[in-house]
Amino acid sequence: MRDTLSIQADVSLQKLNTFGIDAKARAFLAVRSVDDLRAVVADEALCAMPRLVLGGGSNLLLTRDFPGLVLHMCMTGKSVSDEDDAAIYVTAAAGENWHDFVRWTIGNGWGGLENLSLIPGTVGAAPVQNIGAYGAELREYFHSLQAFDFHTGDVRTFNREDCRFAYRDSVFRQAEPGRFAILSVTFALPRQWRPNLAWPELAATLPDATDPALTPKAVSDAIIAIRQRKLPDPAQIGNAGSFFKNPTVTAAVFEKLKAAWPTMPGYAQPDGNWRIAAGWLIEQCGWKGKNVGDAGVCETQALVLVNRGLASGAEIISLSQRIQEDVKARFGLWLEPEPVFV
Ligand code: FAD
Ligand code: EPU
Repeated sequence: MRDTLSIQADVSLQKLNTFGIDAKARAFLAVRSVDDLRAVVADEALCAMPRLVLGGGSNLLLTRDFPGLVLHMCMTGKSVSDEDDAAIYVTAAAGENWHDFVRWTIGNGWGGLENLSLIPGTVGAAPVQNIGAYGAELREYFHSLQAFDFHTGDVRTFNREDCRFAYRDSVFRQAEPGRFAILSVTFALPRQWRPNLAWPELAATLPDATDPALTPKAVSDAIIAIRQRKLPDPAQIGNAGSFFKNPTVTAAVFEKLKAAWPTMPGYAQPDGNWRIAAGWLIEQCGWKGKNVGDAGVCETQALVLVNRGLASGAEIISLSQRIQEDVKARFGLWLEPEPVFV
C-alpha cells in the first residue's frame, strides 16, 4: 500500500465534465490502483468526506462546487482474461476510454460491442447506467465486474444478475449509489458473431447480414458516422448526451397517446411496454434550438441540453424543469433526467 496519497485541494473540474461546468472539488485524487482506495478508507478524515467517483464526466451535471473528495478513476490496462469454445473474455480497467476499448476489441477481430461505438466516457462507468445505443445494451455481452466496496474495504465480484441491469440503470444507480467504485469490467465476446442491425437507420446504411463485407468494423464505422451526424461533440459544445430518459408507458397508454398524436414515435419493448422518443415530445413543445441564457436545447437533437458558454448547473436544471413541466402539461408524461446531478 502507498504511504501517502497525492490529494490536491480546490481542483477545477471544468475540463473533467463534458458539460464544461465550472465547479471545483474541495479534494481530488487521481486513483491509479485499488491500494489508493484502500488508503482513502483507512484515512479517517478522507473517509468522512462526501465522495464522488469520477470517470470521463460525460453523464454528470455539476450543480455546485463539490464539498468533498473526487476520486478520478485513472487505472488503465486491457487484456484477454480467458477463452473457451463460446467466447473470448476481455477485461479492461475502469479508467480506460470506452470507445478506444471497443475499437481495440474490433481491431482484434472480436465482435459484440460495435453498436456501442463512440459513446463517451470510461469502461468503469459503462455498467453504471448499462449504456445503450442503436438496439444494443452493455448487459448483452457483459460477463462480470470487480468493484471496491467503500463500506467494507473489500473487492467484490458482480455477475450480470448482481448488477440488476435495466434501461439506463443498474444496482450502482439504485441502492446505495456511491458505495462501490468499479475497478474493471469483463465482457464475453462471442466467437460466433451475429450483427445486430435491428435499428432501421443502421440496417439502411449497411450491406445485408449475409454479406461477408459486413464485419464488426463496418458496423462500428456506420455507427460512428450516424452519431457524428446527430449528436453534438462535447469538444465543440458542452453536453452530456441525452438529458432525459425516453419515458416507458404501457401499451394501453401508448394507444391513447397515439390516437391523439398519430406521429408520436414509440418503440415496442419485449415486456409489452412502449418507449416514447422524448426528443419528439420536447420538439413538439417548441423547445428545439431554444436558449435561456447560456443553457440551451440542441438544434439537431432536442433531447440534448447544451452549455453555450458559461451556463451553471443551476441554469441547466432550471431549463430542464421548464421542459419537464411543458411536456407534462401537453402529454401527461414526466421526463426523468438521465445524467447524475452532483
Ligand atoms: P461519469 O460521467 O464520470 O460518471 C457517471 C456516473 O457513474 C456517476 O454517478 C459516477 O459517480 C459513476 N461512476 C463513474 N465511474 C465509476 C466507477 N468506476 N465506479 C463506480 N461509479 C462510477 N450514454 C448511453 O448510454 N448511450 C449513448 O448513446 C450515449 N451517448 C452520449 C453522447 C454524448 C455526446 C455524451 C456527452 C454522453 C453520452 N452518453 C450516452 C452518456 C455517457 O457517455 C455514458 O453514461 C458514460 O458511460 C458515462 O461515462 P463517464 O466515464 O463519463 O461517467
Ligand atoms: N426526435 C425528434 N426530434 C428530435 C430528436 C428526436 O422528433 O429533436 C425523434 C425522431 O423521430 C427520432 C426519434 O426521436 O427518430 C429517436 O431519436 P434518436 O434516434 O436520435 O434517439 P433518441 O431516442 O433521441 C436514444 C438514446 C441515445 C442513443 C440513441 C441511439 C436515450 C435517452 N437516448 O436517443 O443515448 O444514442 O437512442 O440509440 O435512450 C444517451 O443516453 O446519452 C444517448 C445519447
